[in-house]
Amino acid sequence: MIAKTAAAGGPTLLPEVLAFTSSLALDRALIREDLVGSLAHLTMLSRRGIVPQEQARAIRDGLVSIWDAAQSGDLQLPDEEDVHMAVESLLTAKLGPAAGALHAARSRNDQVALDLRLYVREQCAEIFSALSRLIGALVERAEVESGTILPSYTHRQRAQPISLSYLLAAYGAMFTRDVDSFGFVLSQTDASPLGVGAIAGTSLPIDRQLVRELLAFGRLTANGLDTVGDRDFALDYAYAASRLLVHTSRVATDFVDFSTSEFGFVRLDGAIACGSSMMPQKRNPDLFELVRGKAGAGIGNLVTLLVDMKGLPGGYNRDQQEDRAPILATGPLVRGVLDILQLGLSRVTFDKMRCLAAVEQDATQATDVAEALVQQGLPFRTAYQLAGTLVRACQDARVPLAHVTTEMAQAIDPRLNDEVLQAARVRGAVARKTSPGGTGPDSVREQLEALRESVTRAKERAESIPRLSTLFAQLREAPL
Ligand code: ARG
Repeated sequence: MIAKTAAAGGPTLLPEVLAFTSSLALDRALIREDLVGSLAHLTMLSRRGIVPQEQARAIRDGLVSIWDAAQSGDLQLPDEEDVHMAVESLLTAKLGPAAGALHAARSRNDQVALDLRLYVREQCAEIFSALSRLIGALVERAEVESGTILPSYTHRQRAQPISLSYLLAAYGAMFTRDVDSFGFVLSQTDASPLGVGAIAGTSLPIDRQLVRELLAFGRLTANGLDTVGDRDFALDYAYAASRLLVHTSRVATDFVDFSTSEFGFVRLDGAIACGSSMMPQKRNPDLFELVRGKAGAGIGNLVTLLVDMKGLPGGYNRDQQEDRAPILATGPLVRGVLDILQLGLSRVTFDKMRCLAAVEQDATQATDVAEALVQQGLPFRTAYQLAGTLVRACQDARVPLAHVTTEMAQAIDPRLNDEVLQAARVRGAVARKTSPGGTGPDSVREQLEALRESVTRAKERAESIPRLSTLFAQLREAPL
């Protein structure tokens, strides 16, 4: 039997309607957030004399025992319409009607807005930690892979030679933007909604600032009508998550491709390569394919939330309860993907010879030859044509550009001298890139330094987030 409480419809509501409208199956995951919020609200009600201290103490004991039961996994939530009513019903069973004092100046509308903000904030802490670990691992790997040279790609066609460190630093740069976008999510989430009530505030002498301080929010939400209908922080969260998952999916595709025999750049450790039930020879990159595939669910969550909110009139609307599934699914999805990607990357080995061969077999240094000619005073277009002629001559003679001889080059044009041909040597082509943001060793060193700062920033952000368990521990001891 669901929603026994009169506040949620009472016994007159049809069971089918109760079953259809209940969110308990999902929002039970918000029990800790709900209890922390209730305890902060109660503390304020007591200090403002809205609830007598004695009564507040009893309610606090009740909330604490529910928290402890939830922590030890012994909590049985009664079948109610949502987690808020379930907590109220548990309290009422313990304390009788006195439990009802807690809901003064509060509505489930501001209560759920609070729970979701606390939840998103907590998830951000975990995501910052996972990002700092992943970027840290990329930096460490990049430090030992500077000697691995491989082609870069545009249009998935070989483009210019790069160091593997440069490729790994590119991934790090993407994930650094995720650190920043989750920083934005955090700033959007950092407003305390409690105290706006159902929509228009309250005539009771509450202290919203006190609740804000107790819950460690930076500011109050500005307008109750907006607050109860606002899920922008959740949209920002789902967008940041989707964009992060687009990033992980793109990294994953590199490893799916690199592990094919066509590329042959990486070997998957046996502990992460999946087999085929029929083809005995297979070592499949399922881990990376699933990292790529899971981005779909993340983008789906964002779209679900956007469509849920689109066109809703101001104030709270029950449609908003449908935010629960996408919001709750997002964090575990992102953290799961980040962690497994880090694990996957730690279990791939680059085949240095095959990587280098891919660069040497081709003419990926053609641009470097052209640039060497520019340094000798030729206009770039002339240099481009001359380098192109050299490449075609090499292709006709089936000689890789890296192995072109002085005689061959001189036969085409005397300006293709030995100094210019130095640019055709693969390692030289990488080392010659001195521009900031390029693949040259000095630039990569700077990029890795910047990434180390992102690691620190992500870690600091994670640590700066007030965690639910800490808040609850403070609140259970706070003077009433
Ligand atoms: N279960 C609801 C939700 O999650 C709580 C708010 C309900 N408010 C209401 N007036 N029925 O959105």
